[in-house]
Amino acid sequence: MSSDRIRSSLLRDRVVSAEAAAAFIQPGETVAMSGFTGSGYPKSVPLALARRIEDAHVAGQDFRIRLMTGASTAPELDGALAKADGIALRMPFQTDPDARQRINAGTLDYIDIHLSHVAQHVWFGFYGDIDTAVVEVAGIREDGSLIPSTSIGNNKTWLDLAKKVIIEVNDWQPEGIDGMHDVYYGTALPPHRKPIPLLQVDDRIGETSLRVDHDKVVAVVRTHGPDRNSPFAPADETSKRIAAYLIEFLQHEVKKGRLPANLLPLQSGVGNIPNAVLAGLSESGFRDMAAFTEVIQDGMLDMLRDGVLRVASCTGFALSPAANEEFKRNIDFYRERIIMRTQEISNHPELVRRLGCIAMNGMIEADLYGNVNSTHVMGSKIMNGIGGSGDFARNSFLSIFLSPSTAKNGSISALVPMVSHVDHTEHDVSIIVTEHGLADLRGLPPRHRARQILDHCVDPSYRAQLADYFERASRASFGKHTPHLLPEALSWHQRWLDTGSMRA
Ligand code: COA
Repeated sequence: MSSDRIRSSLLRDRVVSAEAAAAFIQPGETVAMSGFTGSGYPKSVPLALARRIEDAHVAGQDFRIRLMTGASTAPELDGALAKADGIALRMPFQTDPDARQRINAGTLDYIDIHLSHVAQHVWFGFYGDIDTAVVEVAGIREDGSLIPSTSIGNNKTWLDLAKKVIIEVNDWQPEGIDGMHDVYYGTALPPHRKPIPLLQVDDRIGETSLRVDHDKVVAVVRTHGPDRNSPFAPADETSKRIAAYLIEFLQHEVKKGRLPANLLPLQSGVGNIPNAVLAGLSESGFRDMAAFTEVIQDGMLDMLRDGVLRVASCTGFALSPAANEEFKRNIDFYRERIIMRTQEISNHPELVRRLGCIAMNGMIEADLYGNVNSTHVMGSKIMNGIGGSGDFARNSFLSIFLSPSTAKNGSISALVPMVSHVDHTEHDVSIIVTEHGLADLRGLPPRHRARQILDHCVDPSYRAQLADYFERASRASFGKHTPHLLPEALSWHQRWLDTGSMRA
């Protein structure tokens, strides 16, 4: 590859500054940007846009946009635009503290949807037109096709549908990423859909680059900036115990013949507990595994390097700075073992069901019967969003939720009589693991599930309180199938709001 990342002379002629590119974005526009968990997001245009919005506000003008991405991004995108009060509506997932504060203050509208739904809902027209797409790429080929960078997310859809396209070419991204991607152009609108021809995690069914109509490209911006992700904290005792219970369970399932010796394709959420589980899996003798997941984080990169994981399919990365350096240094090795797909494919229910994934995700709370809340604190304050957890939880072979048994210094129990918000219903949850043990909810009716959760997951300081609720509900409930005492079902949450503790 030549040293110039822009090999199309047509598009090289459209290179402008970030400020000039941002000037194409008008107040009230729907702007679709690249980015997935801190990887592959545009590094310069959002900052220039935030400055422009701040200037407009100083001049007394109203300037906000509707912002769509793949998933969460970074301070230079969500952070800068939220601080500038430049976002009227955000979807489908975000983790920025400033944006979260505005969402929970009711000044920023947020639509939290399954990540596999985003592209198709935009195609269906549910969100209106996309005015501008801003997409980071690692390079532009002679024919003008785009070499994706460290996330693909919804970029194919943004490029296909946007009226105007701004491309950021980031030469910090490794050139050797060219060839890692698999962009599937076979999706269609109902009733014209056909089966997606992906039968194994390592099947390639698409193209290595993204297509773009050159007539729509209004600006190309050169950038040089790192993806942003924080280092993972070393696994604490709680994460290690959660990981140990889960691994013991997986080993037991292999012995019982319900799982193959190399397990089934792994999906793992991002965070310290999933990272500890991945580290534990590496040390437990499992080999030749595959991952069909959204995001590759440090733990999976280590597993690939050590040969524990044979192949991983994803749509983006969440790597610490050290892991990022390792990835870039050994890009030729990883290109043979990682396949990056659009998020409509990485999270596709048809594929998750066909491959039989093992889904491992975090949660805010679960209730006695196995309903899981992944998103809302005390039923009303959003933390992040559902992300891809629902795509995987409903369709996987095993749907596992992992969490410490308490939060906020023990003042909150993660196991409650009734969840204050439901993301994953009792029908979608197979296993719940805390540092106290593992509740296997498979094949059990509701009251038996409650016993599993009480016996294995609840913190000892809340066990008697939850057992007391369950026993009284079992005696006095209107129905004995899923016993509840309605006036008390959410009283733990109200008590925390009133007194700062769920303890009775
Ligand atoms: N009540 C109130 N707050 C709670 C809570 C509860 N029951 N459980 C966790 N929290 C808070 C923690 O205190 C912490 O707050 P802080 O940031 O102020 O310290 C925060 O939630 C994160 O919790 P933590 O224990 O560090 O776990 P995590 O980083 O694994 O996050 C989720 C847990 C649920 C927030 C996270 O997994 C998530 O956003 N899930 C939804 C999306 C998803 O599953 N994506 C993966 C599929 S791709």
